[in-house]
Amino acid sequence: MGEGGSEGADRTREASASEHQASWEEHARWWIDGFTDGADPEYEEQILPLAASELAGARRILDVGCGDGQITRMAAALDGVEAAVGVDPTWNQISVAARRGAATGFLRAGADSLPFADASFDAVVACLVFEHVDALDEAIGEVARVLVPRGRFCLFLNHPLLQTPGSGWIDDQVLDPPEQYWRIGPYLPDAESVEEVEPGVWIRFLHRPLSRYVNTLAAHRLFVERMVEPAPPAGFLALAPEYLDAATVPRLLYLRTSLRPSR
Ligand SMILES: C[S@@+](CC[C@H](N)C(=O)[O-])C[C@H]1O[C@@H](n2cnc3c(N)ncnc32)[C@H](O)[C@@H]1O
Repeated sequence: MGEGGSEGADRTREASASEHQASWEEHARWWIDGFTDGADPEYEEQILPLAASELAGARRILDVGCGDGQITRMAAALDGVEAAVGVDPTWNQISVAARRGAATGFLRAGADSLPFADASFDAVVACLVFEHVDALDEAIGEVARVLVPRGRFCLFLNHPLLQTPGSGWIDDQVLDPPEQYWRIGPYLPDAESVEEVEPGVWIRFLHRPLSRYVNTLAAHRLFVERMVEPAPPAGFLALAPEYLDAATVPRLLYLRTSLRPSR
């Protein structure tokens, strides 16, 4: 593609990113009311405890895409933590985080432009954020830049392989005998999908295959040390009978990576 073509692609990406930003502003309340402050069993039973154990021992922690700050607050309360800071580009998230307080501070910023000096943190966490970030390479580069050598990056994603757009539980009663199975949507192509997560709430998700994440992390000297694919927790399965059918399919993928020193 010529230079003009790639500028055009950049402009398209910027336009799409700014629409996406507007939809997070509009629907911040959907996230805050439904998923934070004890409202969501997956966070209470699984994500917050796993994040707490993975961040244990860190002294300076950055939470990228912190939303209302639920992980930042948890991190600030861990033993030995000197600073726990959250950033999010969405005013309607970061202003609630600042009001809820109980962390070192909250700043309005996107993942691809972190307002911190090099080597400021010994741990960075991003939970269910990178599937909304357009500039993946820049954002991971920023995480690597603000980490100290051997610092850890704790990355929580909607499982990129098992939760592709179009995935879901199929109960096919037309077949004889009937079959039930988990269908996986197209996996290899990058895809942008705008999903109605509840009536009237449209959120954009960016699908990328797992290799894109692992290879981009490695290109920035972030190497996988631990991977967790937890079964959905009991409190989530109890929400609807069909969730129990798919209990062997993880919803979440967690990767802990560590920053290899440059020499
Ligand atoms: C699903 S919420 C997760 C919030 C928080 N991490 C948590 O676990 O409660 C996704 C968050 O990503 C933020 N976000 C969207 N685009 C982003 C970007 N480019 N950089 C950083 N955060 C972004 C949204 O504003 C939103 O707060």
